[in-house]
Amino acid sequence: RLPQPFTVPLPIPPVLRPAGGGGADDRYEITQRAAEVEILPGLRTQVWGYNGIFPGPTIVSRSGRQTVVRHRNELPEPVVVHLHGGRTPAEHDGYPTDLIDPGGSFDYVYPLDQAAATLWYHDHRMQFTGPQVYKGLAGFHLVQDAQEDALPLPKGERDVPLMIVDRAFAEDGSMIYPDVHSDYISGVLGDVVLVNGAPWPLMEVDAARYRFRLLNASNARRYRLALDPAPPSGPAFVQVGSDLGLLSAPLPHDELQIASAERFDVIVDFSQYPVGQEVTMVNRLGDGGSANVMRFKVARRAADDSSIPARLVEVRPLSPSDAVVERTFTFQRGSVQHEGMPMWTVNGQAFTPDTIAADPALGTVERWRLHALNVYHPIHIHLAPFQVLEPSPYATGWKDTVDLASGDQVEVLLRFEGYRGKYVFHCHNLEHEDMMMMANFQVR
Ligand code: C2O
Ligand code: CU
Repeated sequence: RLPQPFTVPLPIPPVLRPAGGGGADDRYEITQRAAEVEILPGLRTQVWGYNGIFPGPTIVSRSGRQTVVRHRNELPEPVVVHLHGGRTPAEHDGYPTDLIDPGGSFDYVYPLDQAAATLWYHDHRMQFTGPQVYKGLAGFHLVQDAQEDALPLPKGERDVPLMIVDRAFAEDGSMIYPDVHSDYISGVLGDVVLVNGAPWPLMEVDAARYRFRLLNASNARRYRLALDPAPPSGPAFVQVGSDLGLLSAPLPHDELQIASAERFDVIVDFSQYPVGQEVTMVNRLGDGGSANVMRFKVARRAADDSSIPARLVEVRPLSPSDAVVERTFTFQRGSVQHEGMPMWTVNGQAFTPDTIAADPALGTVERWRLHALNVYHPIHIHLAPFQVLEPSPYATGWKDTVDLASGDQVEVLLRFEGYRGKYVFHCHNLEHEDMMMMANFQVR
């Protein structure tokens, strides 16, 4: 029932066209609905999709140009949409209890007063984010700006978003999301890797540079991506961007470790390979089906006027002396039980909408020490971009999510800019999030 890996062509999610136009805003409409799609060849799979597709359509916005997205909910359950990485007013940020009921709709207003970056949108319903994203509620939202336009990076057909997820399928093609069982503790994993919704797809490429916007939209799986064979000379990946935008300078990697919700914007230069070469993107943390991600086939020689400049954009480093407040947050298993399962906590607290764990002042920088226990926790903070102090090679630039192994502590410098109001931060292992590993901060 599963296809031979590397036979299904890589799909590219369609770019959403504005609904009506002119005016000061870019307006879009998305209907969330169930649909039957073909993920495994010859089988029908029901997804919950933005416009009925998985991944949802890609929205492309200009920095500083307000984007309004009207979401209609034609699903049988409440939903709420979060623009992950967006600098968004609190009432439009998709707070986990700001639900759109079935039959309802809501206009999300995104000022997008922020640098070019690979953002994504996904469901964020309290206690149901895991199952609802798993069913397909995730899509890209790219922000572009003039600084990025001016760089000679690959563009157009050679600028490709890649959403990587893992899913498990039943014999009939339906997706399996477990009811509470032991898998739930570490998060739900699948044995089929989908890229842009296709199982272990194949992409034919020119012998040229490509820009890939890698997004790990998996509920819980982490990947260590590598190319097999590795390029004969030079690194597999040259990173040019992180979660929230371009780096100051390119950063070479032979492998890339990517946790849930992280984005890596990378250049792969296929001209290093002979025409006809097949290059597999593998996952060195996987086994069986999860050890493979996708394959590229170098199909032809082609002209390439792109390049990777030594300097990309200005990234002002934050300094610890900028921080006006220090806080510590520990992410660990709780003692409270929920349906026989332990809850996950932040500083010993399970999430409730009315407890405020931090009250940063608008316009300030804070220094947070994040500490993970028991298992891996990729920690995501809404609204406030951060820089990791003493970053690992995988945590440079402006981040919104940082991956912590059990026992890890990292310190981040966060910039609270844009808006006052109540926002969440949480583990982006979606089962941990649903099991209440989330807390509020109130920007005052
Ligand atoms: Cu990607 Cu709070 O979420
Ligand atoms: Cu976690």
